[in-house]
Amino acid sequence: MRKKIVAGNWKMNMELSEGMNFADSINRYLMNKPHNGVTVMLCPPFVHLVGISEILKSGNISVGAQNCSSETSGAFTGEVSAAMIKSAGAEYVIIGHSERRTLFNEDNSLLNKKILLALNSGLKVIFCCGEIFKERVEDAHFEVVKKQIEKGLFNLAIDQINNVVIAYEPVWAVGTGSTATPEQTQEMHAFIRKLIIDKYGFEAGDNLSILYGGSCTPSNAGEIFSEPDVDGGLIGGASLKMEDFIGIIESI
Ligand code: PGA
Repeated sequence: MRKKIVAGNWKMNMELSEGMNFADSINRYLMNKPHNGVTVMLCPPFVHLVGISEILKSGNISVGAQNCSSETSGAFTGEVSAAMIKSAGAEYVIIGHSERRTLFNEDNSLLNKKILLALNSGLKVIFCCGEIFKERVEDAHFEVVKKQIEKGLFNLAIDQINNVVIAYEPVWAVGTGSTATPEQTQEMHAFIRKLIIDKYGFEAGDNLSILYGGSCTPSNAGEIFSEPDVDGGLIGGASLKMEDFIGIIESI
């Protein structure tokens, strides 16, 4: 069955005590309020993973990291491995976020290496893809996303693809206040699902959760999430405010 997911990507925001308080409050709130089988997830910075995983043990919120190293272990100062993330209590890791691609020059082959490593370490992956504004204007968006998905995912085995979630995040909508329209979102999500169906078969594609990311707010989320191929959202800015994040969870 396809999972509905609302994941909060905190990026480099919130100090430890703020993050712990936030996790504790939302955990309590959601414990007393069933959220219709929706998987809610928090993706805090690395240093918060242990503390937040501990808080969320008694509840039903999942934890994810925002990145992982492309190496297993060794002399890589400042890096954090997938196995470390798993041992810190996380279940998911975001790989290929547009900020990693653009600001840290992560290309498709490096991202593929990270994905394989994360899956082999027992993590589930949220793989981000999406075009920049110029590519959308030039009508190259389908081609760009197709390439990202082929290079990122197409050497995975079928049991590995079952542990992947795809987040479509048009780069021009991330943190900008512009959102893709529900029609643009549905069109791209259906395209992505078909790519997976053609490669891995109907069941794998049908079960795949595809999230939308890019300036989601409580006022636009309901409309976007109601599209048939949109299975939730990867939320940046609005996941930092309790009221907004809850508003988005409740609009699914
Ligand atoms: P945003 O970020 O919701 O602030 O646009 C989304 C994301 O980067 O995942």
